[in-house]
Amino acid sequence: MSTQNTTQLTITRPDDWHLHLRDGAALEAVVADTARQFARAIIMPNLKPPVTTTEQALAYRGRILEALAKAGGNPAAFTPLMTLYLTDNTSAEEIFRAHESGQVYAVKLYPAGATTNSDAGVTDLLGKCATALEALEKCGMPLLVHGEVTDPSIDVFDREAVFVDRVMKPLRRAFPALKVVFEHITTKEGAEYVRDAEGPIAATITPQHMLYNRNAIFQGGVRPHWYCLPILKRETHRQALVDAATSGSPRFFLGTDSAPHARGLKEHACGCAGCYTALHAMELYATAFEAAGKLDKLEGFASFHGPDFYGLPRNTGTLTLVREAYQVPDDLPFGNTTLVPLAAGEALAWRARV
Ligand code: DOR
Ligand code: ZN
Repeated sequence: MSTQNTTQLTITRPDDWHLHLRDGAALEAVVADTARQFARAIIMPNLKPPVTTTEQALAYRGRILEALAKAGGNPAAFTPLMTLYLTDNTSAEEIFRAHESGQVYAVKLYPAGATTNSDAGVTDLLGKCATALEALEKCGMPLLVHGEVTDPSIDVFDREAVFVDRVMKPLRRAFPALKVVFEHITTKEGAEYVRDAEGPIAATITPQHMLYNRNAIFQGGVRPHWYCLPILKRETHRQALVDAATSGSPRFFLGTDSAPHARGLKEHACGCAGCYTALHAMELYATAFEAAGKLDKLEGFASFHGPDFYGLPRNTGTLTLVREAYQVPDDLPFGNTTLVPLAAGEALAWRARV
């Protein structure tokens, strides 16, 4: 397919393989944005308190669909794929229960202290979680990995690369059949590891890490809406991520990591990490793929590689993107406050027709 001068692009309906929806009023404010563009989404479990049991995951699933209906969306057209939050105490029984529920599709590893609401995360993966990892390997459920070391002596820009050597390689040597998704990779080291490693591994890539390098955080002053974790890296890394996402390799697929925080908590002396991209995710990805001259690779990345890796059917519907000037809103309603989307106020060249 030639995509030069493309004015319209219809792809199989995409899924978001990494999403933060929150709870309560925040959930109600954002969930319809995702459901407009995506058929399914892997729902992150880092609530307060975290979603650590199947029972909690099923209850949260119910709240998501309820919130979607309240927000005017169609709960019949959106499937939340639930996850459990791995702790030092997660039992093998809990993993099997999750798998048997048919609604929980993965387990998320947050190294303790790595990011938002990760205090209950894992302190010693191979030491404390071996039985849970064995159970995951046995039932074929993926481990989703926030791949950053938390060692304060490691520079914040190096934490992912160090994680590959210190944690990812030993983990995969110990559990070679474990399905692993290296979430929101941000470095050349991460991308090359996933591209070249043996066995069942894949990675998600966010729109912000394809579109921006770390200069965006400091453009004329501190720009908190470009702050997320793992943090944006230098340009060579951005280019490596674009190469990976647009390569056609089934090991790389879409995961927005859309992570809403109230404006006041982003524009703050100690601002929260996270970019809100659910509103315009496919527009952002189309912009990045077009800039690389690879619009023809968008459908595989957004709609095929994810379900293929998770062993789920591909979607049957479609999504159409139209070349049309679109100005990202300055802010959005968010409970009793507002939410600033990534690239607020900027113009994009694509619009999803939803
Ligand atoms: O930027 C981020 N925000 N990175 C994460 O890992 C968590 C997320 C959040 O929940 O806000
Ligand atoms: Zn995330």
